[in-house]
Amino acid sequence: MAPISIDFLPDTNAQRPPTGAIDLEEVRDFLVRIAVEAGEVMRNAVPAVATSKAKSNSSDRVTATDHEIERLMRDALTARYPSFAFLGEETSRKGQRMGDGPVVVCDPIDGTLNFIHGFPNVAVSLGLALDRKPVVGVVYNPFRQDLFWAVAGKGAFLTQAGGECTRLPLRPAEPLHGLSSCLVALEWGSERQGPNWHLRMRTAANLLSARSEGGQMVQSIRSSGSAALSCCHVAAGLLDLWWEGGCWAWDVCAAWAILEEAGGLMVSANPGAWCPSLEGRTYMAVRHAPSGQKELVQEMWECVDGRFEF
Ligand code: IPD
Repeated sequence: MAPISIDFLPDTNAQRPPTGAIDLEEVRDFLVRIAVEAGEVMRNAVPAVATSKAKSNSSDRVTATDHEIERLMRDALTARYPSFAFLGEETSRKGQRMGDGPVVVCDPIDGTLNFIHGFPNVAVSLGLALDRKPVVGVVYNPFRQDLFWAVAGKGAFLTQAGGECTRLPLRPAEPLHGLSSCLVALEWGSERQGPNWHLRMRTAANLLSARSEGGQMVQSIRSSGSAALSCCHVAAGLLDLWWEGGCWAWDVCAAWAILEEAGGLMVSANPGAWCPSLEGRTYMAVRHAPSGQKELVQEMWECVDGRFEF
């Protein structure tokens, strides 16, 4: 596939509802346009901790820019695809569920805490789900100008700074030889008490501790602050595994499409669930490998002595 350019603004004349079968590549092109425009809004913003607002608690935050970008995306997408449903982080309603039809799943700023602190690991995440399965994914970090994208059946790619386009994974895939040779991503979330929190802490300790302490001694743990980017970094082969409970469909939909097209495997963070649901809030991504993917999943599940409940 030819590289795509990210150097353009939204095509405001193209307000055609889709007819017949959905052209997923055309949807991808539109999502890229919207993501790049959203990225410009992010780059021009002046985020600050003081002007952000708390949602469920002091570590769960939102900014005016989250709302502005979601409005921009929603307006553009509903005009272009009036028959598609829209699910966005800032406008979703409690208990809302996705239907079988096409749903654009949007996180205007994934990594809001990074954004307000000026830490440049932040992304716009736009995915299309059909029958609740991710089929198109666009994840764009405007600060690094990294654009990850995929269309079901067509591969996954990274376009950097609007220029070179590289198929994922970026590195030749080595076999996986178990947790002790892995770089693992996990997040801490904003819920810092209760059973889910304690499960997260026990699992992190199990992963990090030396064998003599009963642990797995992974090479190390990374917490990037953006579920979408962590999952894309697994797709790229830069991380071996990402394990997370508590994030939402909008954090993972786009990156899941990218992961699968890069040969990665998505299962649940909860032991035994090989076929996680997009709305299930428990995810584990394993990078592409010629061997060892399923064995690594089993080994990771053995470290998780409990289940996330949401
Ligand atoms: C958050 C990030 C974070 C993950 C949280 C998400 P937000 O998204 O993806 O990595 O651990 O669960 O809520 O709030 O920055 O869009």
